[in-house]
Amino acid sequence: MERRSIAIPLVLIISFLSLLDPSVSSPQIRVLSAERRIDLTSHLVRVFLTLKLENTGTSEASDVLLAFPPTEAEHLAILKASTAEGRRKKKTYVPLTVNPAEVHDTPNDARLFSISLRSPLKVGETTVLEVFYIVTHSLEPFPAEISQSEAQLVYYRDSAILLSPYHVVGQVTYIKTPSNKVESFTRVDPTSRSDTELKYGVYNDRPPYSYSPIIVHLENNHPFPVVEELVRTMEISHWGNLQITEHYRLKHAGARHKGVFSRVEYQSRPMVSGVSSLRYLLARLPPLVRSVYYRDEIGNMSSSHLRTNSQKSELEIEPRYPLLGGWKATFVIGYGLPLHDFLFESDDGRRYLNVSFGCPLLETVVDELTVKVVLPEGSKNPLAVVPFPVEQNLETSHSYLDIVGRTTVVLKKKNVVPDHNIPFQVYYDFNPIFMLAEPLMLVSAVFLFFIACISYLHIDLSIRKS
Ligand SMILES: *[C@@H]1O[C@H](CO)[C@@H](O)[C@H](O)[C@H]1NC(C)=O
Ligand SMILES: *[C@@H]1O[C@H](CO)[C@@H](O)[C@H](O)[C@H]1NC(C)=O
Repeated sequence: MERRSIAIPLVLIISFLSLLDPSVSSPQIRVLSAERRIDLTSHLVRVFLTLKLENTGTSEASDVLLAFPPTEAEHLAILKASTAEGRRKKKTYVPLTVNPAEVHDTPNDARLFSISLRSPLKVGETTVLEVFYIVTHSLEPFPAEISQSEAQLVYYRDSAILLSPYHVVGQVTYIKTPSNKVESFTRVDPTSRSDTELKYGVYNDRPPYSYSPIIVHLENNHPFPVVEELVRTMEISHWGNLQITEHYRLKHAGARHKGVFSRVEYQSRPMVSGVSSLRYLLARLPPLVRSVYYRDEIGNMSSSHLRTNSQKSELEIEPRYPLLGGWKATFVIGYGLPLHDFLFESDDGRRYLNVSFGCPLLETVVDELTVKVVLPEGSKNPLAVVPFPVEQNLETSHSYLDIVGRTTVVLKKKNVVPDHNIPFQVYYDFNPIFMLAEPLMLVSAVFLFFIACISYLHIDLSIRKS
């Protein structure tokens, strides 16, 4: 009796697993050609991959797998896939859904992701997929410490051969470097180098899960701005303002500075001294931004410039000292925005906020981002709609004149890159009667004060008379 009750779920689990595991049911796919372009010009590694696939199996294929080495998968910040539709001039790119595939025990511990095709790929047919992804924290400064006058060198590790669960007929990889200064690179013939590009391949007929490690040692003087922690608080006031306050803990994650820092040398020879330092930061804010401030632990900073036009505002801020490798800065940026540009009413009568999610500083990685949306008092049933997975919570914030506190939607995400700077929405119900709460409180406070004064005067008089 007991045995049976165990046996049935086991069978169920196994059949369920085989449903989940695409490699079990997946038909045969072959990569006819793969072209990978790796851009190492900043501190974010951007990869563009074009795959031409053919279904060589006996049944239709509805998804395609991508493989990543485990270290790369860990630092994968964004992964997008699209397919071209229409011909020639009418070509448009249609985004495809990408999800992690729960397949274990793959060769080389590869992590798999599954791309769902728009329409199943029929037997014998081909399709072309465009894949784009960003990997963070993947350039290792070497030497790890440099002095003010030295350039920054980094190691980049990858595989000359595309890691793929499929047989790859022909493939080539291009690595773009920031300059022609490349100290060394692994050769996997054919390998060639021109000005700012390394070419690996063409390689023919590589079996599934082929891997051939390479190391490129190159000069990259781009500063490595990493926000270890960013908390963005957005406060909605139905009186017309959206107040945004951003708390930053920023670090230059490039090669650590060693020795003394000479400001004189730094300022007189900016092209050679502290070349990889972070001199200033640029934040791209929405147009019509107002009452912008920027302060650090010491106080308000005036060393910022704001340029605005009808499309966008750019805030250029200069920290108190330039950030050299390993140095940190903590600061706050605050600004107000006209609420009517960001708060709307949906068809079902709910209100919703529609703002950009990520960090407004250009070319930064945010290790831990928290976005808090503080709804007006009396708001109910909040619902956040974010186009990528985030951790969601609710809390209650209090500020002056609040009676019950404000519902606050808290969204958390790790490893955030500029591509996460896309709109998200927070929907909520709000009864306009609550807008009267604060003025009513003020009015009644003033009224009570008058009553108190009058009664005081009355009491006073009555005492004198007696
Ligand atoms: C800094 O500037 C903001 C906005 O201009 C202002 O509200 C705040 O009081 C200032 N703080 C200090 C310490 O001067
Ligand atoms: C949110 O705003 C963006 C433009 O900033 C717009 O393209 C998008 O349609 C808006 N989303 C909703 C749900 O209103």
